[in-house]
Amino acid sequence: MGSRLVGYGSYLPERVMTNQDFEKIMDTTDEWITTRTGIRERHFAREDETVVDMATIAAQRALDNAGLTIDDIDLIIVANVTAELDFPSVGVQVAGRLGATNNVPAFDVRGACTGLIYALHCARGFFTAGMHRRIMLIGAEKMTRFVDMTDRSTAVLFGDGAGALIFEHSTSSYSGIIDTVIMANGGDFECLHGSPDHKIVMNGPETYKKAVQCMPSAAEYIMEHAGITAENVDWIIPHQANLRIINSCAERLNFPMDKILITVDKHANTSGASGVLALAYAFDNGIIKRGQLILYPAFGSGLTWGAALIRV
Ligand code: UT7
Repeated sequence: MGSRLVGYGSYLPERVMTNQDFEKIMDTTDEWITTRTGIRERHFAREDETVVDMATIAAQRALDNAGLTIDDIDLIIVANVTAELDFPSVGVQVAGRLGATNNVPAFDVRGACTGLIYALHCARGFFTAGMHRRIMLIGAEKMTRFVDMTDRSTAVLFGDGAGALIFEHSTSSYSGIIDTVIMANGGDFECLHGSPDHKIVMNGPETYKKAVQCMPSAAEYIMEHAGITAENVDWIIPHQANLRIINSCAERLNFPMDKILITVDKHANTSGASGVLALAYAFDNGIIKRGQLILYPAFGSGLTWGAALIRV
């Protein structure tokens, strides 16, 4: 039992915040931000725009793309750490907004920047066990709820957005979610976390050091586990936090940069939404073609990290 991808959708808030906009409100420069991170702009949600609002639009677009309605879905899993309400889950709220009448179960996973891989891991398990027929995975984050506009070392790094993927069960194990690996080390919790007053607290250099170790090692592990090499992979979609981290991963994996999808320049770090926003961007722009094999490694708060192999 395996799966196949039948639809995708994404949503980015209208407001684009450029590095030049940051130059006007804090002691920073476009030059510093682009050379240290690769980020040029990011999308900021309106104050009244919630994680559920963004997730619902992305989910509806994925349903339209697949030619389905919400009642065709039998499980929703949402990767999210920034929802306005602690409960109920973003997933049940999205189902409610979309008018589900089939009692579709839904839950959220809180894997931060690795959240979508945690969600893919759950979905792979459910498909393998034959427990669900069609699963919608959503990554949705309003990082600006946690951005401290007085802290230049973190404020420039994050953006908002949402994306959704729909997988359905398949008898082929060579399509859809082929393999996943998830890991965490709670001992490194202090590198990157949210504070009780909703601020991002990060030891940037320490987090950077861990990211350049963990992302490529998760990628190497999953390739070995799946019995493939980098040559079998068509595209790497790494978690989009910092272009220097991505370059370092590519170097260690000996993978050419022209097969690494980069959206950090446009979206910045959208945590659990990052991978699905990047994939949607690649489909929308004809960069990635159906049938190609994608390797998606990610790393984030927890510390958490992991990788997924997806044939799209
Ligand atoms: O998605 C989850 C994972 N998150 C990450 O992977 C992020 C990992 N960390 C990073 O990407 C990098 O550590 C940062 C981009 C956050 C920072 O880059 P860095 O090269 O590690 O810089 P730094 O923190 O060592 O700071 C260097 C200097 C400092 O000035 P001094 O003390 O050397 O005078 C900072 O105050 O850069 C200064 N600085 C800035 N200058 C202009 C920090 N932020 C800014 C800024 N504009 N926005």
